[in-house]
Amino acid sequence: MKTLVALALGAAFVAVPAAPAQALPDGLALTPPMGFNNWNATGCAIDEKLIKDTADIFVSRGLKDAGYEYVNIDDCWAAPQRDASGRLTHHPERFPSGIKAIADYVHSKGLKLGIYTSAGTQTCAKTMPGGLDHEQIDAQTFADWGVDYLKYDNCNNENRPALERYTKMRDALKKTGRPIVFSICEWGQNKPWEWGADIGHLWRTTGDINDTWPKVVELLKKNAPLAPYAKPGAWNDPDMLEVGNGGMTDTEYKSHFSLWAMMAAPLLIGADLRKISPASLDILRNKEVIALDQDRLGVQARVLSQADGKWVFVKPLANGDKAVALFNENATATTIGTSAAALGLPRRPGYVARDLWQHKDFQTAGELSAVVPPHGTVVYRVSTAKWWQAEPLVSAGLQLTTSTPGIPANITPAGRPFEVTVTATNHAVVPVIDPRVRLTAPPGWQVEALNQPREWVLRTGESISGRWRVTPAATGTPELTGGVDFGGASVLQRAELIVPPEIPRGSLVLGDVRSAWESGGYGPVERDMSNGGWQPRDGKPLTINGRTYAKGMGAHAPTEIVYYVGGNCSAVTSIVGIDDDRDDARQTGTASFQIWADGTKVADSGVRTWRDDPISITGQIAGATYLRLVVTDGGDTNSYDRGDWAEPILTC
Ligand code: GLA
Repeated sequence: MKTLVALALGAAFVAVPAAPAQALPDGLALTPPMGFNNWNATGCAIDEKLIKDTADIFVSRGLKDAGYEYVNIDDCWAAPQRDASGRLTHHPERFPSGIKAIADYVHSKGLKLGIYTSAGTQTCAKTMPGGLDHEQIDAQTFADWGVDYLKYDNCNNENRPALERYTKMRDALKKTGRPIVFSICEWGQNKPWEWGADIGHLWRTTGDINDTWPKVVELLKKNAPLAPYAKPGAWNDPDMLEVGNGGMTDTEYKSHFSLWAMMAAPLLIGADLRKISPASLDILRNKEVIALDQDRLGVQARVLSQADGKWVFVKPLANGDKAVALFNENATATTIGTSAAALGLPRRPGYVARDLWQHKDFQTAGELSAVVPPHGTVVYRVSTAKWWQAEPLVSAGLQLTTSTPGIPANITPAGRPFEVTVTATNHAVVPVIDPRVRLTAPPGWQVEALNQPREWVLRTGESISGRWRVTPAATGTPELTGGVDFGGASVLQRAELIVPPEIPRGSLVLGDVRSAWESGGYGPVERDMSNGGWQPRDGKPLTINGRTYAKGMGAHAPTEIVYYVGGNCSAVTSIVGIDDDRDDARQTGTASFQIWADGTKVADSGVRTWRDDPISITGQIAGATYLRLVVTDGGDTNSYDRGDWAEPILTC
């Protein structure tokens, strides 16, 4: 079976090496590991209560039941020095009971414990010794404590070859005789997908994730092409989940979770479950999506098509079904589709497409299409089951036509009319009778029908569209609902809008003024502080080459901040530069700062590096409806690109 899978995939991709590494023969991680790791939520602020509470919540909130098993401790759990016998020992304040006691506790709940160290002299946070040249004693210590999973990081590795370092730990773990899942965390630097299967059960393919949408997309794009390398016991790891940490919308978290499951990625919850919202918890407990990840065929989804930010992923499943994900990378709703034939399903008069977020079966004659919200993902499990019992698959959704170039289409200032088109298409074998498209807006908003067609029957493949003019008011929850009603059923979509605040007149310090919309490249845009990277809101002042500023914004590239200025403002002036808040060992920050008036760039700092002194830039924005502050990554990666808008003044 395994060989067949490898061959079938080999035909579709040229990237498969001549002799692919075999998975370890220990029978571990035959499906991607599922569990928890504290790093994304807490960094080094960890203690044994968090680990025990997490184990309790796994049981009490149905996560164990959903398949989550490993409760993993990341960096900073150990004392800074080895003990007299050269062993690692627990941090006295964070884990006063010792790791063995925690392992016993976790095991008593029917769960497993994971731990962390680095294939270097120290771990990444430099708070504890690493495992380099201590492989056997550390592996034995972990085994003695009852550890079931080891994440082995890559920091402080003295430039010694990765293959050698990770092989040594593999052998040391094996020698203990305890089954321990071995997670290679080498960030994809030495193509671990080519050798990782021989060494461990999963390997990181990328740098660290963070709780922002651009990062999720970046990691997705790096991990997706590596599909041919994944198989039972050997998985690509695009890093842990951010679902529930608060930096993304529910739609984005659903995409993150769906795409990680499609890619047969490890599902390690990275949020503090004691604080998580019910909506995020529901995402993590979606058993139908988890079933894709855990499917025993163990094939990572491949990209079937990808153009203009519209992605189609397909994942074959053990029972012959195909999972398909329609992912919309764009900031506006868009129709994405494929067909049963393209997925490789046998010819039939009809199919069942089960929507794994709606938990509902639909019948289709073969087209699989949906209006996918911005940053959203629709996931279908497609089968040749009894399609005639399911209700028709009708795709419907609303399209806004408001756009100023570069401005998200869902920003809709009060009093400014825009048009909405609602379209519905029947994909089912049976016709849809008396379809009526409709649109609803919040109370107090003006809605005028421009075109409301009447059709009696929509046959397979036919569409119907209506058009409305909407004028938003500053009141009500800014949200439109549009779609189609037919024969007692409805297919509706909501579009969340942003009605931006009015900008007051005068000389204003941006940062104190509410933006219409913003996105940070690494953590949120911070006010009167530098961007903290993986430690958001760490309180460090905006500082450019030693000069500090009390007011402004810390914004990690790539980032943008949009203000609705409504033609009322004339100019923006700001001091800009790369912040000093960076690791001395990695002085790599470079970025350009740009000011945009609607679709026109009116000021550009050029590339600034971490060495450069602050400079002042000014953009004339008279007449512009929107002001946009943009920081790009300066042409290299966005590593340490912590941009500062210091003392930014807007004149209105
Ligand atoms: C590295 C890893 C992260 C995390 C930290 C801990 O950055 O890639 O996942 O373990 O170290 O310091």
